[in-house]
Amino acid sequence: METYLPPDIWKGDMLTDNFGRRFYYLRLSITDVCNFRCNYCLPDGYQCDNTRNFLRVDEIARLAKAFAELGTEKIRITGGEPSLRKDLPEIINICKQTSGIKKVALTSNGFKLPEHLPHWLDAGIDAINISIDSLDPRQFHTITGHNKLEHVLKGIDMALADGRTTVKVNTVLMREYNAYDMQTYLDWLKDTPVTLRFIELMQTGDNKAFFDAQHVQGARIKQQLILDGWLPVLTDKSSGPAQEFYHPDYQGKIGLIMPYSKDFCNSCNRLRVSSLGKLHLCLFGENGLSLREQLQSDDLLPLKEQIVALLGDKKATHFLHEKITGATKHLAMLGG
Ligand code: 5AD
Ligand code: SF4
Repeated sequence: METYLPPDIWKGDMLTDNFGRRFYYLRLSITDVCNFRCNYCLPDGYQCDNTRNFLRVDEIARLAKAFAELGTEKIRITGGEPSLRKDLPEIINICKQTSGIKKVALTSNGFKLPEHLPHWLDAGIDAINISIDSLDPRQFHTITGHNKLEHVLKGIDMALADGRTTVKVNTVLMREYNAYDMQTYLDWLKDTPVTLRFIELMQTGDNKAFFDAQHVQGARIKQQLILDGWLPVLTDKSSGPAQEFYHPDYQGKIGLIMPYSKDFCNSCNRLRVSSLGKLHLCLFGENGLSLREQLQSDDLLPLKEQIVALLGDKKATHFLHEKITGATKHLAMLGG
């Protein structure tokens, strides 16, 4: 392995790839286990594999420190469903205590949000993204396999009332499950100060037929929003590939994530590490590149060298347009 490090790494400059993109944002999966059966992700549920050896807390602490020393400012903890790990509050806290990390975020399906939220808040969480793929309880049940909509919404109200964390809601657009019912979402956003992000369904290795039947273009929703008086939010580097809109009559905002749109990858600002400690340069890249060996020592230099060396392989874009989904069978593998 080539271990040459460009000198600017040592000046604390940010990780940069061959296309000039900077990576101040790490998405860290801490488990690929999930208890939901979202129809676009794990329609048959998680296939139990007890041999999985997920990153330990000490490894996560080293990883966070190494990335922070390379310029990472934000860590999003993902899964699978990250709250299935009992040590999630400790993981949040360790990331939060890492010098240089300004923001710790979490993506969750929210199945126990009211119960878990106080622990996450005490640990220092700054931002939560909760999946709600329908605001109709029966449709929510059909999509996820769980009759939990009311419970999730209760947790969101609690988070908003507490005020210490920002709240975003993720909705994967699907032709027959939610895309026809924009009005219900709009009504909710009138008085609910969350950012609702419509995510275009992405094709993965496992969901091809579903994708072909359900994919809806976010651009159609964008056109309608603009006609209805929604205005683009001026974004900073932290928004990444989402396009956000606000409306003077609405407390909530709307974001659109359109991975099939032109130039989507230009604003890529993130790297991913899987729950097994593999660095993934793209959600739709090939199998990850392992950092596990370097995570065993408190000497972070080899770890940082490995990260920088691997980053040299990051490609300009994904190849989803050509229906090449890489090694990603479903997003529970990597947390989206
Ligand atoms: N396409 C789009 N979004 C997906 N997610 C999971 N699988 C897919 C897919 N195939 C979403 C989850 C969650 C986020 C992390 O990614 O619903 O909101
Ligand atoms: Fe679980 Fe998220 Fe996949 Fe749904 S989308 S099955 S909540 S990992």
